[in-house]
Amino acid sequence: MDVSDDGISNNSDNPTFASILDQYVSRRGLIVGGLATAATTYFALSPAASAAPTGAAVPASPAATKPLIGFTSIPLQSGPMPTIAPEYRYSVLIPWREKLDGSGESFQYAGFTADQQNRSIGIGHDGMTYFGNERGGLLCINHEYGTNEHVYGRVNAASAADVQLSQAAHGVSVVAIERAKGGWRVAKDRRNRRIHVNTPVAFSGPAAESAFLRNAAGNPTLGTLNNCANGYTPWGTYLTCEENFNGYFGTSSTAWKASAEQSRYGINAAGFGYGWHLHDPRFDVSNTAYGNEANRFGWVVEIDPNKPKSRPVKRTALGRVKHEGAEVVEGKDGRIVVYMGDDERFDYIYKFVSARDWKTMVKKGVSPLDEGTLYVARFNADGTGDWLELSTANPLLADRTMDWILVYTRLAADVAGATKMDRPEWITVGPDGSAYVTLTNNSQRGTAGRAPVDAANPVAANADGHIVRWKDANNHVGLRFTWDIFAVSKDVADAGGQMYGSPDGIWADRDGRLFVQTDGTQPGGSNDQMLVANARTREFKRLFTGVKGCEVTGVAVTPDRRTMFVNLQHPGDGKASVTNFPEQFTGAAGPVPRDCTIVITRRDGGVIGS
Ligand code: FEO
Ligand code: CA
Ligand code: CA
Repeated sequence: MDVSDDGISNNSDNPTFASILDQYVSRRGLIVGGLATAATTYFALSPAASAAPTGAAVPASPAATKPLIGFTSIPLQSGPMPTIAPEYRYSVLIPWREKLDGSGESFQYAGFTADQQNRSIGIGHDGMTYFGNERGGLLCINHEYGTNEHVYGRVNAASAADVQLSQAAHGVSVVAIERAKGGWRVAKDRRNRRIHVNTPVAFSGPAAESAFLRNAAGNPTLGTLNNCANGYTPWGTYLTCEENFNGYFGTSSTAWKASAEQSRYGINAAGFGYGWHLHDPRFDVSNTAYGNEANRFGWVVEIDPNKPKSRPVKRTALGRVKHEGAEVVEGKDGRIVVYMGDDERFDYIYKFVSARDWKTMVKKGVSPLDEGTLYVARFNADGTGDWLELSTANPLLADRTMDWILVYTRLAADVAGATKMDRPEWITVGPDGSAYVTLTNNSQRGTAGRAPVDAANPVAANADGHIVRWKDANNHVGLRFTWDIFAVSKDVADAGGQMYGSPDGIWADRDGRLFVQTDGTQPGGSNDQMLVANARTREFKRLFTGVKGCEVTGVAVTPDRRTMFVNLQHPGDGKASVTNFPEQFTGAAGPVPRDCTIVITRRDGGVIGS
């Protein structure tokens, strides 16, 4: 469907957005060397700016006469090695199992133990944030999930030891990295640590003491799971987001039946078939001693990377869904705003707004992520939208309790009347304050018995996904927004045909570029990839393609944006017969492909994406 036929007022010719961005781009020269008023959403005015990890505090690249995206777009490919635009080069960093001690070594594949996994990089590299400068710093990186055959040598866990190894491979790595001759490497640092499924964690915010989070077993709150995308705060912490936690739970009890709340989160007897419930009672949903264990997952979790002894904190005010990511911006009056997607077919987009300005809250010892209001998005057909409050102040939710709303957020959002979206993945906010969400795909859109196409989800049986853009009223804290469709994947083409499908990772730099990463079917069965788009003209170019069978995900940059980190997740879908990257790249002789980080630089030292 052509979006211009769809009654959308805020379409590609949107004069408001274009003029704002034009003004911004033409003012870049003024911004250099000073504080950018156009970039206030990026904490550039905050004292924390020097620690802001995405290049917020550094001048935009000069030379406004150069094209925004000057590199040579490369073709799709289906091979066992990555490809990159000729103006660029890449190297490999932190493959799964690399030791955290800075030795540069990896643990052996054979006989690999949970204890060794706890002392090395996890598997399933995903969202990440870099807290550092051009010479070195801390990389916080999510480990979403891994190929079981690699982690413990078979598909289904056969013992508690298998499960413990798998649990240790999930979670987050905090790892110091430094620039060295010939590339980046892990540095020896007391802050290097792993956070995984058995790491003690704390709950905070309005639902922290909820009975819905307590177990009869009285067991401590442990772990983070299926950590997908991410975020970071202006006070220097990392946010890791728990996505498909449901698949790790299961039961062999035939008497057990899922509650309505469990069903809404996809919890069932089979799970993903990993078999954790057979060897760890926490994950057996029929074990009444652990009846609420699944409610302890599905949160946004805050980690202080500089305090290696600190506990990760699950922030209940941000709600419990299958969290994809958490994009944090500073809104009106210094309030913290967090945009979040819930990645499942027909699920929703959320926003949290802190109660007061974050600096005052932090000064008083109150987390800005603990007090505030949660909303869910409704996209109207006329190009406007509404943020619907998820609290007992909403008359539709007046008969609920606040902890029910936060623990069973999906059900609260159903009641509130949110718009069913085509799998909301990452959200990013550009320099003019526009937010972009990747809606990766939804094969069931418009099929019998499911939600029909609507203005914001206009493609029936949406195999390739789309990107929606919106802009909030009142500098991110308003209850209204305007929106349009930025790109429908199947309609984005170059001379080689359709350019991509299944957009997932997305990041806006401060010059008006969008980095779009894919996870899913690509044109012609090609490899997943990373493209760069001009937010104003919607021109796309292909910067990087991954190896066969991998997802390209996660994006982090040094403050000068001249080094970018991206991840290859599950290269070869785990099959060495497809690729054993990065071993063949580094010259090592590993038996299987390994998830790893790719370090991207421009050969001339320029800003990535230029
Ligand atoms: Fe973990 Fe929705 O991707
Ligand atoms: Ca994703
Ligand atoms: Ca995805």
